[in-house]
Amino acid sequence: DGGVRTAVDAFRRGEPVLIHDFDDREGETDIVYPAGAVTPTAVSHLRNDAGGLVCAALSDAVADAVGLPFLDDALDHPSAGDHDLRYDSRSSFSLPVNHRDTFTGITDEDRALTITKLAEAATAVDAEAVEYGSDEFAAEFRSPGHVNLLRGAPELLADRRGHTELGLALAAEADLPAAVVVCEMLDDESGRALSPADARAYADRRGFVYLEGQQLVDELA
Ligand code: 5RP
Ligand code: CA
Ligand code: ZN
Repeated sequence: DGGVRTAVDAFRRGEPVLIHDFDDREGETDIVYPAGAVTPTAVSHLRNDAGGLVCAALSDAVADAVGLPFLDDALDHPSAGDHDLRYDSRSSFSLPVNHRDTFTGITDEDRALTITKLAEAATAVDAEAVEYGSDEFAAEFRSPGHVNLLRGAPELLADRRGHTELGLALAAEADLPAAVVVCEMLDDESGRALSPADARAYADRRGFVYLEGQQLVDELA
């Protein structure tokens, strides 16, 4: 029925969910996948059907365990010193990475490899039996790279209500690793964000669940 429960079930099966944030925020719909389910075909759908920036969001706990900073804290340039985002108080960008087994890093196969290995890294951090920290992460991934990492807010939707947190909250509710891939849907004609009506129509055509961010906030925050 397009509700949160349906989205959780779809996500558990590895299917994407479309999430529109809020009319008074970005006003964008992202295609969101559990990172562990991303195949080369899924990356192809993201760049062709969504068209925005393909990013992988990790929870604050995972990012902290492997030492991933916010990009603005890592950059030593005055452009990173002052934030005047019009839709939120701060960006969730962390480092861009590639898995070390990739070649250029940008192909569908390379990005799918980087993304699925990020899901495995998130799982390794959660499994406290193994030690997985910044050295283990650096042995597997190099930066810069072609998958933009995002770092979720510690308390997810209680702290911040971006696609970063909306996607990670859905993964948490589905008991999946704290790693999701998001990509903005753009309108090929106008170049602007795809309208909610058009995003819904795409979801209907493809049999995907479409959610309003507010539905996730109401049920999970
Ligand atoms: C990265 C972005 C997107 O908006 C993405 O949805 C993550 O950001 P946010 O959590 O701020 O919504 O800027 O392409
Ligand atoms: Ca397109
Ligand atoms: Zn967003």
